[in-house]
This record gives sequence, structure tokens and C-alpha cells, in this order.
Amino acid sequence: MRLFLDTASIDEIREINRWGVLSGVTTNPSLLAKEHGDPEAVWKEILETVQGDISLETTEPEADPMYKQGLELANMAPNAVVKVPMTPNGLECGKRLVKDGIKINVTLVFSPTQAVLAAEIGAYIVSPFLGRIDDVASDGMHALRQICEIYEIQGYETNVLAASLRHPMHVVDAALAGADIATMPYDVFTKLVKHPLTDLGLEKFQADWRELHTELKGEA
Ligand code: E4P
Repeated sequence: MRLFLDTASIDEIREINRWGVLSGVTTNPSLLAKEHGDPEAVWKEILETVQGDISLETTEPEADPMYKQGLELANMAPNAVVKVPMTPNGLECGKRLVKDGIKINVTLVFSPTQAVLAAEIGAYIVSPFLGRIDDVASDGMHALRQICEIYEIQGYETNVLAASLRHPMHVVDAALAGADIATMPYDVFTKLVKHPLTDLGLEKFQADWRELHTELKGEA
């Protein structure tokens, strides 16, 4: 399962990128608004910093302007993936972009039926939002499992990207469900590496190493 960061913060991206495990970034208008910078400049920096799929979201609601905007976003860099919403206009625009050979990510997906539609237009990525499904007292992970199973049975090649992940167990369960990609905020990503026994073990190894050297110095 490929790991993506769900952020528009270049500092967060740089920090995780140095771990050597970052395969892509997902952005959306809300994440860009949090950074307060010119979106084009922010996207450009992300596209240059990470060698992997970078999702840039369209904001035009109508199909024609959305298509025009999608072409502009796709032209920004070879690793740009154009996000379109799961709406009739998003599907129409997405299908046209796919015909042009552009990689699209169908976003704001909350059900298996929507995921089938995304696959049918030939999307490169489908993004079910697990956490937001949980927020309305429904089971996001169940929806993800159904989507992965349907894609397997139907032989769809669209990549399933588990989105709106809120904690490390979401990442574990998404991997077990067979998601191709998991995107998560920085605070969830940094929790993946943490374990109290790693910290304790390292502390003990360092203390023993220091003690050995004090002992050797004493003998000399
Ligand atoms: C994915 O592409 C979205 O940007 C994201 O995962 C939404 O997550 P949220 O529900 O935490 O805003």
C-alpha cells in the first residue's frame, strides 16, 4: 500500500519525504486555505518536492469550466493528478480528461455505488472518505472493504485510495482491506513510526553503550 500525505504544508511534506516512504500527496481547497499562500505556487513546490502522484483539486462546479481547469492543472507537471468531485458534472469532466490521457482522482466518494461510477469512467484513483463516513454514525471501513471487494471481483484497475483517515488503526485496517493507497494528515503519519518500546529500547542501548565506554576508559 502506497502512503500519501494529506496536506498542503511544504514543511510537513519535507519532513515525511526525508523518511523515504512518501509516494504522493493529496491536497484539497480546505488544506490550501489553511496555508494562506497562492495555491499555484504551493502546488508547484509540492510537485517539484515529491516524486509521486500529487492530487490537485478542481473547483469549478460546471463540467466545461471544470474540464478547462483540469487541463491546466494536468499541464502543471507530469506527476499532477486531477481531482474531480463525485457529481454528474465531475463524472462528465472526468471522463473527458481520461479520454485525453490525464490521470484523475474522483474525490468525495462515500459509497460503493459511487466507487463503481468512478471505475466506469476509467479513473486512476477513487477516494472514499472513511473518517467522514464514521462522523455520520456509519461504518467507513465497511464501505472501503466493499469497494475493494467489488473492484477485485469486477477486475477494475482504478486505485482505491483510503482518505479521511484519522488514526493509525485506520491505516492498518485500510491495508488489511486491500487499499492501494492511504492518505493521511501529518499527525497520523508521524504516529506510524512511534512505539514506546522502541523509545525505551533505544534509551537502554545508548545507556549501556555509554557505560561500556566509561568502563573501557577506566581500564586504560
Ligand atoms: C483526500 O483527498 C481528502 O483531502 C481528505 O482525506 C479529506 O479528509 P478530512 O475528512 O480529514 O478533511
